[in-house]
Amino acid sequence: MKKRTLKDIELNGKRVIARVDFNVPLQEDGSISDDARIQAALPTIRYILEQNPAKLILMSHLGRPKGKADDSLRMDPVARRLSELLGEKVEKTEDCVGPEAEKKIRETGARVVVLENLRFHPEEKAGDKEFAQKLASYADVYVNDAFGTAHRAHASTTIIAQYLPSCLGFLMEKEVKFLSSALNPQKPYVVILGGAKVSDKIEVISQLMKSADTILIGGAMAYTFLKAKGESVGASRVENEKLEVAAHILQEAGQKGVKIVLPVDHLVVEKLDAPASAKTVESIPEQTMGVDVGPKTVELFEAELRNAKTVLWNGPLGIFETAEYAAGTEKIAGFLGKLKEAVVIVGGGDSASAAKQFRVAHQLNHVSTGGGASLEFLEGKTLPGIAAVAEKE
Ligand code: 3PG
Repeated sequence: MKKRTLKDIELNGKRVIARVDFNVPLQEDGSISDDARIQAALPTIRYILEQNPAKLILMSHLGRPKGKADDSLRMDPVARRLSELLGEKVEKTEDCVGPEAEKKIRETGARVVVLENLRFHPEEKAGDKEFAQKLASYADVYVNDAFGTAHRAHASTTIIAQYLPSCLGFLMEKEVKFLSSALNPQKPYVVILGGAKVSDKIEVISQLMKSADTILIGGAMAYTFLKAKGESVGASRVENEKLEVAAHILQEAGQKGVKIVLPVDHLVVEKLDAPASAKTVESIPEQTMGVDVGPKTVELFEAELRNAKTVLWNGPLGIFETAEYAAGTEKIAGFLGKLKEAVVIVGGGDSASAAKQFRVAHQLNHVSTGGGASLEFLEGKTLPGIAAVAEKE
Protein backbone atom coordinates (compact mmCIF):
# COMPACT_ATOMS: atom_id res chain seq x y z
CA MET A 1 0.00 0.00 0.00
CA LYS A 2 1.37 3.42 -0.92
CA LYS A 3 -0.58 5.29 1.75
CA ARG A 4 1.17 6.34 4.91
CA THR A 5 0.31 4.08 7.83
CA LEU A 6 0.65 4.28 11.61
CA LYS A 7 4.20 2.96 11.67
CA ASP A 8 5.39 5.64 9.23
CA ILE A 9 4.59 8.49 11.58
CA GLU A 10 6.05 9.76 14.87
CA LEU A 11 3.41 9.71 17.61
CA ASN A 12 5.51 10.13 20.74
CA GLY A 13 4.47 13.26 22.63
CA LYS A 14 1.98 14.18 19.89
CA ARG A 15 -1.73 14.92 20.20
CA VAL A 16 -3.36 12.34 17.94
CA ILE A 17 -6.90 12.57 16.57
CA ALA A 18 -8.29 9.35 15.09
CA ARG A 19 -11.49 8.92 13.05
CA VAL A 20 -12.94 5.54 13.96
CA ASP A 21 -16.23 3.93 13.02
CA PHE A 22 -17.98 3.44 16.35
CA ASN A 23 -21.37 3.33 14.61
CA VAL A 24 -22.48 0.31 16.64
CA PRO A 25 -26.00 -1.15 16.84
CA LEU A 26 -27.88 -0.04 19.98
CA GLN A 27 -30.70 -1.79 21.83
CA GLU A 28 -33.85 0.02 22.93
CA ASP A 29 -32.41 0.61 26.41
CA GLY A 30 -29.42 2.35 24.76
CA SER A 31 -26.93 -0.46 25.40
CA ILE A 32 -24.62 -1.74 22.65
CA SER A 33 -25.82 -4.99 21.07
CA ASP A 34 -22.63 -5.70 19.13
CA ASP A 35 -19.29 -4.05 19.98
CA ALA A 36 -17.39 -5.59 17.01
CA ARG A 37 -16.55 -2.18 15.56
CA ILE A 38 -15.09 -0.98 18.87
CA GLN A 39 -13.08 -4.19 19.19
CA ALA A 40 -11.86 -3.81 15.61
CA ALA A 41 -10.37 -0.38 16.39
CA LEU A 42 -8.47 -1.63 19.48
CA PRO A 43 -5.20 -2.60 17.74
CA THR A 44 -4.86 0.98 16.45
CA ILE A 45 -5.88 2.54 19.76
CA ARG A 46 -3.53 0.32 21.78
CA TYR A 47 -0.62 0.92 19.42
CA ILE A 48 -1.08 4.70 19.58
CA LEU A 49 -1.18 4.58 23.39
CA GLU A 50 2.02 2.50 23.47
CA GLN A 51 3.79 5.34 21.63
CA ASN A 52 3.14 7.68 24.59
CA PRO A 53 1.15 10.33 22.77
CA ALA A 54 0.28 13.56 24.59
CA LYS A 55 -3.40 12.70 24.02
CA LEU A 56 -5.55 10.38 21.91
CA ILE A 57 -8.80 11.92 20.71
CA LEU A 58 -11.29 9.55 19.09
CA MET A 59 -14.16 10.75 16.92
CA SER A 60 -17.04 8.97 15.20
CA HIS A 61 -20.62 9.26 14.11
CA LEU A 62 -23.35 7.11 15.62
CA GLY A 63 -26.53 6.55 13.60
CA ARG A 64 -28.07 9.24 11.43
CA PRO A 65 -29.08 12.12 13.74
CA LYS A 66 -29.84 14.62 10.95
CA GLY A 67 -27.43 17.36 11.97
CA LYS A 68 -28.74 18.04 15.48
CA ALA A 69 -28.27 16.63 18.99
CA ASP A 70 -30.25 13.48 19.69
CA ASP A 71 -30.01 12.02 23.20
CA SER A 72 -30.56 8.47 21.95
CA LEU A 73 -27.41 8.74 19.80
CA ARG A 74 -24.89 10.10 22.29
CA MET A 75 -21.48 8.47 22.46
CA ASP A 76 -21.62 7.74 26.21
CA PRO A 77 -22.27 3.96 25.92
CA VAL A 78 -19.41 3.75 23.41
CA ALA A 79 -16.99 5.64 25.69
CA ARG A 80 -18.00 3.40 28.63
CA ARG A 81 -17.45 0.21 26.61
CA LEU A 82 -14.11 1.47 25.35
CA SER A 83 -13.04 2.27 28.89
CA GLU A 84 -13.93 -1.30 29.96
CA LEU A 85 -12.01 -2.78 27.04
CA LEU A 86 -8.93 -0.62 27.60
CA GLY A 87 -9.08 -0.90 31.38
CA GLU A 88 -8.52 2.83 31.80
CA LYS A 89 -10.44 6.07 32.12
CA VAL A 90 -11.92 7.44 28.91
CA GLU A 91 -13.08 11.07 28.95
CA LYS A 92 -16.12 12.02 26.86
CA THR A 93 -17.07 15.51 25.68
CA GLU A 94 -20.66 16.84 25.58
CA ASP A 95 -20.19 18.21 22.08
CA CYS A 96 -17.52 17.47 19.49
CA VAL A 97 -16.60 21.15 19.01
CA GLY A 98 -16.76 24.27 21.19
CA PRO A 99 -15.21 25.56 24.43
CA GLU A 100 -16.32 22.62 26.62
CA ALA A 101 -14.65 20.08 24.32
CA GLU A 102 -11.51 22.23 24.04
CA LYS A 103 -11.26 22.62 27.82
CA LYS A 104 -11.80 18.91 28.50
CA ILE A 105 -9.20 17.87 25.95
CA ARG A 106 -6.72 20.34 27.46
CA GLU A 107 -7.34 19.64 31.12
CA THR A 108 -8.40 16.01 31.51
CA GLY A 109 -5.99 13.62 33.17
CA ALA A 110 -7.27 10.79 30.93
CA ARG A 111 -5.11 9.74 27.97
CA VAL A 112 -8.14 8.99 25.79
CA VAL A 113 -10.98 11.38 24.93
CA VAL A 114 -14.06 10.39 22.91
CA LEU A 115 -15.79 13.30 21.19
CA GLU A 116 -19.59 13.52 21.07
CA ASN A 117 -21.33 12.29 17.89
CA LEU A 118 -19.94 14.24 14.92
CA ARG A 119 -23.27 14.11 13.07
CA PHE A 120 -24.93 16.34 15.68
CA HIS A 121 -23.50 19.03 13.39
CA PRO A 122 -24.65 19.26 9.74
CA GLU A 123 -21.14 20.47 8.87
CA GLU A 124 -19.81 16.92 9.30
CA LYS A 125 -21.73 15.41 6.38
CA ALA A 126 -21.42 18.63 4.36
CA GLY A 127 -17.63 18.29 4.52
CA ASP A 128 -17.39 21.80 5.94
CA LYS A 129 -13.84 23.15 5.99
CA GLU A 130 -14.16 25.28 9.14
CA PHE A 131 -15.63 22.36 11.07
CA ALA A 132 -12.79 20.11 9.86
CA GLN A 133 -10.27 22.79 10.90
CA LYS A 134 -11.77 22.95 14.40
CA LEU A 135 -11.39 19.20 14.78
CA ALA A 136 -7.86 19.40 13.40
CA SER A 137 -6.96 22.12 15.91
CA TYR A 138 -7.11 19.55 18.75
CA ALA A 139 -4.23 17.52 17.40
CA ASP A 140 -0.85 17.27 15.66
CA VAL A 141 -1.55 14.08 13.72
CA TYR A 142 -4.68 12.62 12.04
CA VAL A 143 -5.27 8.86 11.80
CA ASN A 144 -8.13 7.48 9.74
CA ASP A 145 -9.14 3.99 10.88
CA ALA A 146 -12.86 4.26 10.03
CA PHE A 147 -13.13 1.74 7.20
CA GLY A 148 -16.92 1.48 7.63
CA THR A 149 -17.21 5.19 6.81
CA ALA A 150 -14.42 5.39 4.22
CA HIS A 151 -16.97 5.68 1.39
CA ARG A 152 -18.26 8.97 2.86
CA ALA A 153 -16.48 12.23 1.96
CA HIS A 154 -17.24 13.97 5.26
CA ALA A 155 -15.36 16.60 7.27
CA SER A 156 -13.83 14.03 9.66
CA THR A 157 -13.09 11.39 7.03
CA THR A 158 -11.51 13.43 4.25
CA ILE A 159 -11.41 17.22 4.68
CA ILE A 160 -9.49 17.15 7.99
CA ALA A 161 -6.58 15.41 6.22
CA GLN A 162 -5.83 18.75 4.49
CA TYR A 163 -4.89 20.31 7.81
CA LEU A 164 -2.76 17.66 9.57
CA PRO A 165 -0.12 15.06 8.73
CA SER A 166 -2.23 11.95 8.11
CA CYS A 167 -2.01 8.18 8.04
CA LEU A 168 -4.22 5.09 7.91
CA GLY A 169 -4.81 2.93 10.99
CA PHE A 170 -4.33 -0.84 11.26
CA LEU A 171 -8.00 -1.70 10.63
CA MET A 172 -7.93 0.26 7.37
CA GLU A 173 -4.76 -1.59 6.36
CA LYS A 174 -6.30 -4.97 7.19
CA GLU A 175 -9.56 -4.24 5.37
CA VAL A 176 -7.72 -3.03 2.27
CA LYS A 177 -5.38 -6.04 2.31
CA PHE A 178 -8.16 -8.63 2.50
CA LEU A 179 -10.69 -6.92 0.27
CA SER A 180 -7.95 -6.34 -2.32
CA SER A 181 -7.26 -10.07 -2.26
CA ALA A 182 -10.92 -10.52 -3.22
CA LEU A 183 -10.22 -8.39 -6.29
CA ASN A 184 -6.89 -10.12 -7.09
CA PRO A 185 -7.51 -13.61 -5.69
CA GLN A 186 -5.71 -16.94 -5.49
CA LYS A 187 -7.59 -19.34 -7.78
CA PRO A 188 -9.99 -21.11 -7.79
CA TYR A 189 -12.01 -18.13 -6.59
CA VAL A 190 -15.61 -18.73 -5.54
CA VAL A 191 -17.97 -15.88 -4.69
CA ILE A 192 -21.21 -16.35 -2.76
CA LEU A 193 -23.70 -13.58 -3.39
CA GLY A 194 -27.00 -13.25 -1.60
CA GLY A 195 -29.26 -10.65 -0.10
CA ALA A 196 -32.51 -9.19 -1.27
CA LYS A 197 -31.76 -7.14 -4.33
CA VAL A 198 -29.92 -7.63 -7.60
CA SER A 199 -29.94 -3.84 -7.99
CA ASP A 200 -27.62 -3.44 -4.96
CA LYS A 201 -25.09 -5.83 -6.45
CA ILE A 202 -24.99 -5.17 -10.20
CA GLU A 203 -21.73 -3.23 -10.10
CA VAL A 204 -20.16 -5.73 -7.72
CA ILE A 205 -21.12 -8.63 -9.99
CA SER A 206 -19.61 -6.90 -13.04
CA GLN A 207 -16.39 -6.27 -11.13
CA LEU A 208 -16.24 -9.80 -9.65
CA MET A 209 -16.82 -11.39 -13.04
CA LYS A 210 -13.33 -10.15 -13.97
CA SER A 211 -11.72 -12.39 -11.35
CA ALA A 212 -14.16 -15.07 -10.10
CA ASP A 213 -14.25 -18.62 -11.43
CA THR A 214 -17.64 -19.40 -9.90
CA ILE A 215 -20.43 -17.25 -8.49
CA LEU A 216 -23.02 -18.93 -6.27
CA ILE A 217 -26.21 -16.93 -6.02
CA GLY A 218 -28.74 -17.30 -3.20
CA GLY A 219 -31.07 -15.07 -1.21
CA ALA A 220 -33.99 -13.25 -2.80
CA MET A 221 -31.78 -12.02 -5.66
CA ALA A 222 -31.66 -15.59 -6.94
CA TYR A 223 -35.38 -15.44 -7.83
CA THR A 224 -34.78 -12.56 -10.23
CA PHE A 225 -32.11 -14.65 -11.97
CA LEU A 226 -34.33 -17.75 -12.01
CA LYS A 227 -37.23 -15.79 -13.48
CA ALA A 228 -34.88 -14.29 -16.08
CA LYS A 229 -34.09 -17.89 -17.09
CA GLY A 230 -37.79 -18.63 -17.43
CA GLU A 231 -38.14 -20.72 -14.27
CA SER A 232 -41.19 -20.54 -12.01
CA VAL A 233 -40.70 -18.41 -8.91
CA GLY A 234 -44.32 -18.29 -7.65
CA ALA A 235 -44.87 -15.27 -5.40
CA SER A 236 -41.18 -14.91 -4.49
CA ARG A 237 -39.63 -11.48 -4.27
CA VAL A 238 -38.49 -10.51 -7.77
CA GLU A 239 -37.21 -7.23 -9.20
CA ASN A 240 -39.09 -7.31 -12.48
CA GLU A 241 -37.33 -4.19 -13.73
CA LYS A 242 -33.98 -6.00 -13.37
CA LEU A 243 -34.87 -9.13 -15.34
CA GLU A 244 -33.02 -7.90 -18.41
CA VAL A 245 -29.96 -7.00 -16.36
CA ALA A 246 -30.02 -10.47 -14.79
CA ALA A 247 -30.32 -12.12 -18.22
CA HIS A 248 -27.43 -10.00 -19.47
CA ILE A 249 -25.25 -10.99 -16.48
CA LEU A 250 -25.96 -14.68 -17.16
CA GLN A 251 -25.06 -14.25 -20.82
CA GLU A 252 -21.88 -12.29 -20.05
CA ALA A 253 -20.82 -14.92 -17.49
CA GLY A 254 -21.23 -17.58 -20.18
CA GLN A 255 -19.04 -15.60 -22.58
CA LYS A 256 -16.37 -15.00 -19.95
CA GLY A 257 -16.31 -18.59 -18.73
CA VAL A 258 -17.55 -17.66 -15.24
CA LYS A 259 -19.78 -20.36 -13.80
CA ILE A 260 -22.94 -18.98 -12.21
CA VAL A 261 -24.73 -21.46 -9.96
CA LEU A 262 -28.35 -20.80 -9.00
CA PRO A 263 -30.40 -22.67 -6.37
CA VAL A 264 -31.88 -26.00 -7.46
CA ASP A 265 -34.29 -26.31 -4.55
CA HIS A 266 -35.98 -23.90 -2.17
CA LEU A 267 -37.73 -23.57 1.15
CA VAL A 268 -41.07 -21.97 0.36
CA VAL A 269 -43.94 -20.64 2.49
CA GLU A 270 -47.43 -19.40 1.75
CA LYS A 271 -46.88 -16.26 3.79
CA LEU A 272 -43.74 -14.82 5.34
CA ASP A 273 -45.26 -14.98 8.81
CA ALA A 274 -46.39 -18.60 8.38
CA PRO A 275 -43.25 -20.69 8.98
CA ALA A 276 -45.45 -23.72 9.76
CA SER A 277 -46.41 -23.81 6.06
CA ALA A 278 -42.74 -24.18 4.99
CA LYS A 279 -41.80 -27.00 2.63
CA THR A 280 -38.86 -27.83 0.38
CA VAL A 281 -39.53 -27.89 -3.36
CA GLU A 282 -37.53 -28.03 -6.59
CA SER A 283 -39.97 -25.95 -8.60
CA ILE A 284 -41.66 -23.09 -6.76
CA PRO A 285 -45.48 -23.45 -6.88
CA GLU A 286 -47.76 -20.47 -7.60
CA GLN A 287 -48.89 -18.70 -4.40
CA THR A 288 -45.73 -19.64 -2.48
CA MET A 289 -42.53 -17.68 -1.99
CA GLY A 290 -38.94 -18.75 -1.47
CA VAL A 291 -37.38 -17.84 1.89
CA ASP A 292 -34.21 -19.96 1.89
CA VAL A 293 -32.17 -22.25 -0.32
CA GLY A 294 -32.95 -25.97 0.01
CA PRO A 295 -30.64 -28.83 1.11
CA LYS A 296 -29.67 -29.89 -2.45
CA THR A 297 -28.55 -26.32 -3.15
CA VAL A 298 -26.48 -26.33 0.04
CA GLU A 299 -24.77 -29.55 -1.15
CA LEU A 300 -24.21 -28.08 -4.61
CA PHE A 301 -22.71 -24.88 -3.16
CA GLU A 302 -20.50 -26.88 -0.78
CA ALA A 303 -19.17 -28.95 -3.69
CA GLU A 304 -18.19 -25.72 -5.48
CA LEU A 305 -16.56 -24.28 -2.35
CA ARG A 306 -14.57 -27.39 -1.38
CA ASN A 307 -11.54 -26.72 -3.62
CA ALA A 308 -11.59 -22.94 -3.54
CA LYS A 309 -8.42 -21.02 -2.62
CA THR A 310 -10.29 -17.74 -2.15
CA VAL A 311 -13.90 -17.28 -1.08
CA LEU A 312 -15.81 -14.03 -0.84
CA TRP A 313 -19.22 -14.11 0.85
CA ASN A 314 -21.54 -11.15 0.46
CA GLY A 315 -25.21 -11.46 1.39
CA PRO A 316 -27.25 -14.10 3.22
CA LEU A 317 -28.85 -17.02 1.38
CA GLY A 318 -32.26 -16.72 3.02
CA ILE A 319 -34.15 -14.75 5.64
CA PHE A 320 -31.72 -15.94 8.34
CA GLU A 321 -33.12 -13.56 10.98
CA THR A 322 -36.13 -15.94 11.18
CA ALA A 323 -34.96 -19.21 12.78
CA GLU A 324 -37.12 -21.40 10.50
CA TYR A 325 -35.60 -19.79 7.36
CA ALA A 326 -31.97 -19.78 8.51
CA ALA A 327 -30.74 -23.30 7.66
CA GLY A 328 -29.19 -22.49 4.26
CA THR A 329 -27.22 -19.50 5.53
CA GLU A 330 -26.23 -21.32 8.73
CA LYS A 331 -25.00 -24.45 6.90
CA ILE A 332 -22.94 -22.50 4.37
CA ALA A 333 -21.51 -20.29 7.15
CA GLY A 334 -20.53 -23.43 9.09
CA PHE A 335 -18.95 -24.95 5.97
CA LEU A 336 -16.92 -21.78 5.34
CA GLY A 337 -15.67 -21.95 8.93
CA LYS A 338 -14.23 -25.42 8.25
CA LEU A 339 -12.47 -24.65 4.95
CA LYS A 340 -8.76 -25.06 5.62
CA GLU A 341 -7.16 -24.26 2.28
CA ALA A 342 -9.08 -21.11 1.38
CA VAL A 343 -8.81 -17.48 2.39
CA VAL A 344 -12.40 -16.68 3.37
CA ILE A 345 -13.52 -13.06 3.35
CA VAL A 346 -16.92 -11.84 4.46
CA GLY A 347 -17.92 -8.58 2.81
CA GLY A 348 -19.59 -6.97 5.82
CA GLY A 349 -23.24 -6.00 6.35
CA ASP A 350 -25.79 -8.80 6.77
CA SER A 351 -23.37 -11.62 6.02
CA ALA A 352 -21.09 -10.33 8.80
CA SER A 353 -24.09 -10.41 11.18
CA ALA A 354 -24.88 -13.95 10.00
CA ALA A 355 -21.26 -15.07 10.53
CA LYS A 356 -21.48 -13.72 14.06
CA GLN A 357 -24.93 -15.16 14.75
CA PHE A 358 -23.78 -18.63 13.65
CA ARG A 359 -20.53 -18.29 15.64
CA VAL A 360 -18.12 -18.78 12.76
CA ALA A 361 -16.74 -15.24 12.46
CA HIS A 362 -13.59 -16.17 14.42
CA GLN A 363 -12.87 -19.08 12.03
CA LEU A 364 -12.85 -16.88 8.93
CA ASN A 365 -9.83 -14.95 7.66
CA HIS A 366 -11.57 -11.60 7.52
CA VAL A 367 -15.01 -10.27 8.37
CA SER A 368 -15.24 -6.73 7.08
CA THR A 369 -16.51 -3.98 9.40
CA GLY A 370 -17.86 -2.14 6.37
CA GLY A 371 -21.32 -2.50 4.86
CA GLY A 372 -21.61 0.11 2.10
CA ALA A 373 -17.85 0.72 2.25
CA SER A 374 -16.92 -2.90 1.51
CA LEU A 375 -19.43 -3.05 -1.32
CA GLU A 376 -18.01 0.11 -2.92
CA PHE A 377 -14.46 -1.19 -2.47
CA LEU A 378 -15.44 -4.45 -4.19
CA GLU A 379 -17.02 -2.44 -6.99
CA GLY A 380 -13.50 -1.16 -7.64
CA LYS A 381 -14.27 2.39 -6.49
CA THR A 382 -11.74 4.63 -4.78
CA LEU A 383 -12.93 5.31 -1.24
CA PRO A 384 -12.57 9.02 -0.35
CA GLY A 385 -11.52 8.28 3.26
CA ILE A 386 -8.52 6.33 1.97
CA ALA A 387 -7.75 8.63 -0.94
CA ALA A 388 -7.50 11.67 1.38
CA VAL A 389 -4.68 10.21 3.48
CA ALA A 390 -1.12 11.18 2.58
CA GLU A 391 1.10 8.92 0.48
CA LYS A 392 4.25 7.38 1.89
CA GLU A 393 7.29 9.62 1.37
C1 3PG B 1 -22.15 2.04 8.24
O1 3PG B 1 -22.74 1.61 9.24
O2 3PG B 1 -22.22 1.49 7.11
C2 3PG B 1 -21.20 3.20 8.40
O3 3PG B 1 -21.00 3.52 9.74
C3 3PG B 1 -21.65 4.39 7.60
O4 3PG B 1 -22.88 4.86 8.07
P1 3PG B 1 -23.82 5.74 7.11
O5 3PG B 1 -24.35 4.77 6.07
O6 3PG B 1 -24.90 6.29 8.01
O7 3PG B 1 -22.97 6.80 6.49
